Amino acid sequence: MNPQDYQFDPFWMPFTANRQFKKSPRMLVSARDMHFISDDGRKILDGTSGLWCSNAGHCRPKITEAIQRQAGELDYAPAFQMGHPGPFKVAERLKSIMPADLDYTFFTNSGSESVDTALKIALAYHRARGEGTRRWLIGRERGYHGANFGGISVGGMPANRKTFGTLLSNVDHLQHTHNLEQNSFSRGQPAWGAHLADELETRLVALHDASNIAAVIIEPMAGSTGVLVPPKGYLERLRALCDKHGILLIFDEVITGFGRLGAPFATSLFGVVPDMVCLAKGLTNGAVPMGAVVVRKHIYENMMTAAPENTIELFHGYTYSGHPLAAAAALASLDVFEQEGLYERARELAPYFENAVHSLRELPHVIDVRSIGMVAGIELEPLAGKPAARAFEAFLRCFDKDVLVRTTGDTIALSPPLIISKQQIDELVGKLGDVLREVGRA
Ligand SMILES: Cc1ncc(COP(=O)(O)O)c(C=O)c1O
Repeated sequence: MNPQDYQFDPFWMPFTANRQFKKSPRMLVSARDMHFISDDGRKILDGTSGLWCSNAGHCRPKITEAIQRQAGELDYAPAFQMGHPGPFKVAERLKSIMPADLDYTFFTNSGSESVDTALKIALAYHRARGEGTRRWLIGRERGYHGANFGGISVGGMPANRKTFGTLLSNVDHLQHTHNLEQNSFSRGQPAWGAHLADELETRLVALHDASNIAAVIIEPMAGSTGVLVPPKGYLERLRALCDKHGILLIFDEVITGFGRLGAPFATSLFGVVPDMVCLAKGLTNGAVPMGAVVVRKHIYENMMTAAPENTIELFHGYTYSGHPLAAAAALASLDVFEQEGLYERARELAPYFENAVHSLRELPHVIDVRSIGMVAGIELEPLAGKPAARAFEAFLRCFDKDVLVRTTGDTIALSPPLIISKQQIDELVGKLGDVLREVGRA
């Protein structure tokens, strides 16, 4: 495509340095399997599954055809007081693959909407049970829960919060678990840090009282703030404390869902069952926007029985909740994940990926490498006075070498599609290694 066919200026790009980008654009025009094609015709190896979402690779024919078929059959149908088969089928499929009694699904269109939906359900649930004083929501420092007001309130990324005022009231935060002195160069779950969960009781319950706390929301593995893997025992302790104090536990699995950690979900891998799970991204392999909140039986049943007969139980929803095209994409994606055994493949490939990324540890400015399943974070020492600049330069140089990586702060995150071959892992990590040597010299 000729860049002169359109203007760069009118599109206000999200989470992007617009002026910098528009001076030197990086444009992708098509994709297949493990690669994007750039507008100058280069084949770019996707080391990030797009934005952590195309877990089965790009433009997979089964998913594309399902969307095309659906678009010709039922393009849209209202989701309020009307139904169409798609979301019922997806909910049934999710029930069959989620652990325990995570059996009921509410559909949204994104991870941000899933988070806000889960927070609202938590408040509504407690109120329905006659515990309406439970209004406090507990997030965690360095958490990312999307860009909407609920998500940035419980989230813990300062740049996403500082511009937007006081945010939701009644929100507090656990401290994050990242600690380079204790846990650097961890493979899988780090050994140190389970005790950080105790803060829920010793600081937050002590301060606010359990009778006022509705829910704790965390990413079981924090992705967007640089791949922070939960310390051994941490999630278990948080679960036990939530149970003890009647607090709901929400896992935001927008990134960890659908195979990223080498298991269908983080909850399956870690054996800790939250009360709600937020999903998006991989649910449709990124092909059509869709999010979901999967809740346990006690939540759904309480909500159904608390409201008077023949009345709406939850005043919440979106025009596109369970959209027909998204539902078709989700069903086809779940088929592809299962038929190709991608969760198992991710588990089997993980040790190879882990060894490859940890081979970078001696390179200039690398202060940590951490990994679990098919995700890794390579943290660089920041340039003095210029946080994030060194990693961003590495990102640009990688793109020049035909590989796409992602950076957050000074951490480079790798999360390739689960169909990646060993040879492609070598290419991805090899080129990143070359770049780190160059950036180190610069
Ligand atoms: C854990 C987590 N939650 C929520 C979101 C927000 O998802 P979306 O961008 O689809 O709104 C993201 C996006 O990266 C995420 O990583």
